Amino acid sequence: MSYNLLKGKRGIIFGALDENSIAWKTAERVHEEGGEFVLTNAPIALRMGQINELAKKTNSEIIPADATNMEDLENLVEKATEILGGKLDFVLHSIGMSVNVRKGKHYTDQNYDWTHKGWDISAVSFHKTMNVLYNKDAMNEWGSIVALTYMAAQRVFPDYNDMADNKAYLESIARSFGYFFGRDKKVRVNTISQSPTPTTAGKGVKGFDGFISYADKMSPLGNATAIDCANYTISLFSDLTKRVTLQNLYNDGGFSNVGVSDAVIEAFEEE
Ligand code: NAI
Repeated sequence: MSYNLLKGKRGIIFGALDENSIAWKTAERVHEEGGEFVLTNAPIALRMGQINELAKKTNSEIIPADATNMEDLENLVEKATEILGGKLDFVLHSIGMSVNVRKGKHYTDQNYDWTHKGWDISAVSFHKTMNVLYNKDAMNEWGSIVALTYMAAQRVFPDYNDMADNKAYLESIARSFGYFFGRDKKVRVNTISQSPTPTTAGKGVKGFDGFISYADKMSPLGNATAIDCANYTISLFSDLTKRVTLQNLYNDGGFSNVGVSDAVIEAFEEE
């Protein structure tokens, strides 16, 4: 269902890799709600080509940018404002990658070059993106910036590895940069803490299948899907949430406030 919530709004969407990506679903929903945007991803991800399909479907252009590279980000923001014909109203940061996870390095024995790379991609890239948006004065007043995170920033999920630390850092950046963005530009900055979701990044976490079912059984409303996340993001991009800022917002079916559920207790009683 469409409510025209983003009519006349312009933005940038990072991180649509394939149709499972949370950013992909968000781009589709933003388009349905009347928003216009530029799609971006790392050059290597663009080579896989699937994003062209999304661009066509949503009448949007694609600008490659490695989100750890300031020059790429500057070029992205300059071109995006040119293409869209004005300053931006929304930005989605939907980027995450841990080399230690990818290469099977245990949390207790990391390769610190990989740790550094994953931190730069998953956390510092959000600071760099906001740096460029802020210093180029590229956001309209009452604009909205959202990044995606996971509850391993607050609680232990052993196989989430160094991504847990990256997410804690990301959430802190949202608050710290969000203060200045709010004070100086009237722009809000929030993170959405999403349920486990079957995407390329999600499925890369060891034991994902067992874990996603566990989270589902623990959550009174069940796991939030990628579309649920897209819808929540739409609400944060819309004018209905103008003074929500510096928040880490859970979109997780209630998981984060549950100690144990009947379904999980039953699973143990059956043993
Ligand atoms: P995904 O794998 O579809 O998206 C991750 C994106 O990051 C990809 O498009 C990838 O190309 C991009 N990326 C990696 N390195 C980059 C770089 N240097 N520059 C620019 N882009 C780069 O997976 P998903 O799940 O849609 O991930 C989106 C966000 O949601 C991530 O921040 C992830 O941590 C977060 N999240 C995912 C959950 C899950 O279970 N899937 C749960 C909670 C949060």
